[in-house]
Amino acid sequence: MKDDSALTSRPRRNRRTAGIRDLVRETRLDPTNLIYPIFVREGRAERTAIASMPGQFRLSIDEAVKTAARARSLGVPGLALFPVIEAGQKDKYARESANPDGLLQRAVAEIKARVPEIVVITDVAMDPYSTDGHDGLLENGEIVNDATLDILCAMAIAQARAGADVVAPSDMMDGRVGAIRRALDQSALQGVSILAYAAKYASGFYGPFRHALDSAPRSGDKKTYQMDPANRREALREVRLDEEEGADIVMVKPAGAYLDVIAAVRAETNLPLAAYQVSGEYAMIKAASANGWLEEARVRDESLLAIKRAGADMILTYFALEAAEALV
Ligand code: PBG
Repeated sequence: MKDDSALTSRPRRNRRTAGIRDLVRETRLDPTNLIYPIFVREGRAERTAIASMPGQFRLSIDEAVKTAARARSLGVPGLALFPVIEAGQKDKYARESANPDGLLQRAVAEIKARVPEIVVITDVAMDPYSTDGHDGLLENGEIVNDATLDILCAMAIAQARAGADVVAPSDMMDGRVGAIRRALDQSALQGVSILAYAAKYASGFYGPFRHALDSAPRSGDKKTYQMDPANRREALREVRLDEEEGADIVMVKPAGAYLDVIAAVRAETNLPLAAYQVSGEYAMIKAASANGWLEEARVRDESLLAIKRAGADMILTYFALEAAEALV
C-alpha cells in the first residue's frame, strides 16, 4: 500500500475550516440576485392563503405595496407580478389585459408610486385573462400565433404605460419579442426592458401556480407552444431568436430540473440569464419540510445555489424574501 504522506493532492485541505471554505467558495447567494413573484387580487387588506404554496398569498394592492417595501428593505430588487382576474372579467380575447385601469395596471402604478426603486416586472401572456386558460388565442382548437401577437403587444403597452420597468413575455408564441419591442418603441417606451421567457418548458411543475391564478387550460395542454422537456438544443434556438429580436434578458423555466439547459444557455449568450424556480419546485420543498423530511432552509438555499452555479445571474423564486432574510 502507498504511504499516505506521499499524496500530492489533498482537496480536503480547502475544506478544513469554515474560513478556508469561505475563501474558496465559487458561488454565493445574494438577495440582489433574487426576484420575488407575487399574486395580486382586488380588495383591501386582503391576504388570501394559497393552499398549494404555503407561505404565499393573493395580495390586494395595498398589501402588495407593503410586500414591495419589505423586498426592498431586504435588498431584493425586483417583483414579478401576476394578477388574479375574476371570472366575469375573462373573455376569449383577454381584453381586460389591455385595460389601462385593470387590476395589474393599478398594482404596477401603485407599487411604483410608493416604492419607486423596486423593479416591477409584468407577465405578458393571455392565460390569467382568458376564458380558455391558454397563453395564446384559441381558434378551432388551435392556438393561433400571429393573431396572438397583437393581443400581447397591447397588453405589454398597457403594462409599460402603467410603469412596469420590465415586461416578461411568458407565452412562447413565435416572434413575440420582436413584435413587443417594436410596439413599445413606437409608443415611446424605449426604456422598458424585455425579459424573455426564452426556454419555457411544458412542465408539470406549474401546477400550484395555475391553482393560485385559477388559470389552468380549460381544454388541451400547452405542448404546441411550450417546449418539450426532452429538448436542450431547441432551447438554444429559442434563446438565439429572442436575442435577435431584442430581448434584454433571457430566461429558462423551470429551473431545478433544467440545470443543464441553464448551463448550455449560459455558454451560448452574453445576455443576462434568469431562471425561474417555479411553484412546483417551491411546493415540493415546502411539503417535504412540513412533514419533517427535509430541512427547509438548508434545501432552499442549496436549490438556489445550484441554479446560480449552473449559470443563472438572477432567480425568480417564491423563497426570495425568506432566503434574503437569512442572508442579511
Ligand atoms: C403563464 C405562466 C405560468 C407560470 C408563469 N407564467 C404558468 C403556465 O405557463 O402555465 C408558472 C409559474 C410557476 O409555476 O411558478 N403564462
